[in-house]
Amino acid sequence: MDFELTADQREIQALARELADTEIAPNASAWDRDQRFPAELFPKLAELGLMGVCVPEEHGGAGADFLSYILVLEELSRADAGVGVTVAVHTSATTLPILSFGTDEQKTRFVPPLARGEQIGAFALTESSSGSDAGSLRTRAEPDGDEWILTGDKQWITNGSVAGTFVLFARTDPATEGARGVSCFVLGDEHVRVTREEEKLGLNSSTTSDLVIEGARVGRDRLLHEEGRGFRVAMATLDGGRIGIAAQALGIAQAAFDVARSYALEREQFGRRIAGFQAIQWKLADMATEIDAARLLVYRAAWLKQQGLPHTTEGAKAKLFASEMARRQTAEAIQVLGGYGYTKEFPVERYYRDAKITEIYEGTSEIQRLVIARAILGKQLREEPVARPQGTHS
Ligand code: CAA
Repeated sequence: MDFELTADQREIQALARELADTEIAPNASAWDRDQRFPAELFPKLAELGLMGVCVPEEHGGAGADFLSYILVLEELSRADAGVGVTVAVHTSATTLPILSFGTDEQKTRFVPPLARGEQIGAFALTESSSGSDAGSLRTRAEPDGDEWILTGDKQWITNGSVAGTFVLFARTDPATEGARGVSCFVLGDEHVRVTREEEKLGLNSSTTSDLVIEGARVGRDRLLHEEGRGFRVAMATLDGGRIGIAAQALGIAQAAFDVARSYALEREQFGRRIAGFQAIQWKLADMATEIDAARLLVYRAAWLKQQGLPHTTEGAKAKLFASEMARRQTAEAIQVLGGYGYTKEFPVERYYRDAKITEIYEGTSEIQRLVIARAILGKQLREEPVARPQGTHS
């Protein structure tokens, strides 16, 4: 067991931290207030290789490992969680599934523009009536000669209005309900139309859009993986994506802790710095402990993934704990700052608003618990008929 980061991992972490400190953190409050997607930032990230950190060099990426990518997400999210989710969805939910499931031709065609940051990626799974029950999606793809015709709509798509490439899920077998009839496609921005931009509680520097697909005709070569096997692509993608969201939550919590600590060391009440009071010391101690616990879960899940080992449950545990921890501890950070924490003079209220979504997207906390429970209890419980209390009628 080795808890040390490698020299390469530390180097990438330092690179991301410097960019986050100089180019992102000073602007984050303004982007949040103005609800502005900072388009000018992403070429700078691309120049440093941060739009394709864990993509092999031969496909246009920086060739680092998955843990390096997780460290980058943590650092970006420490400065601005909206930037963190933009890069997370672009990388682990768009670029990586094409790399994992694409043909050589698809990898050569679609991955380099994403990995070099010339295009941003989006992952279009959710619809208005299929959120947690992702397998019930209704967007359909019908074969027509050598083409597919796609029709439907998607909701809450991160990067939806700025993406050039979409990994999009549609039902190719109308006779089959649920996960089995779903396929995955790689579309371009010419195949979708943005119908609405969402207004959100937080993450205001990221875009979240509704999309419509209006009889888009695409070649057969845009089908990713096998027909009818798209749900597996979605689930395997989310297995990795959830580790990224856990890293985002970790970065937000770290940022909140840093502000709370320095405030406590400066603010004086009752004739002394408030860090001298045990009430505040215990809060900081609990924060530091929970952040550390989350970090260990997140890095372990990332390590398992990059070793090619199973990581579904470990990723779900990391996301579940890190996201709930971030919600708890950003609230505690506000408490340490008292009245100041509730104002826009300090960033902790933004961290609190940003943290909440990490308990919801890429699978709610309830879905993470379901994934973990299924691993603990096995499939048999799901197939067991529900016992009816005596005296009830069918
Ligand atoms: N890896 C590979 N395959 C998997 C898998 C995994 N981790 N989990 C399930 N599958 C396969 C199953 O083996 C099964 O395949 P077969 O039919 O061939 O046996 C198929 O997928 C269906 O599996 P389930 O029966 O388990 O499916 P289910 O309908 O019970 O749903 C679920 C499972 C876990 C609840 C799933 O629907 C789920 O994860 N829901 C949450 C959706 C979600 O996370 N959405 C996020 C949207 S994207 C986003 O948020 C991005 C952003 O903006 C940040």
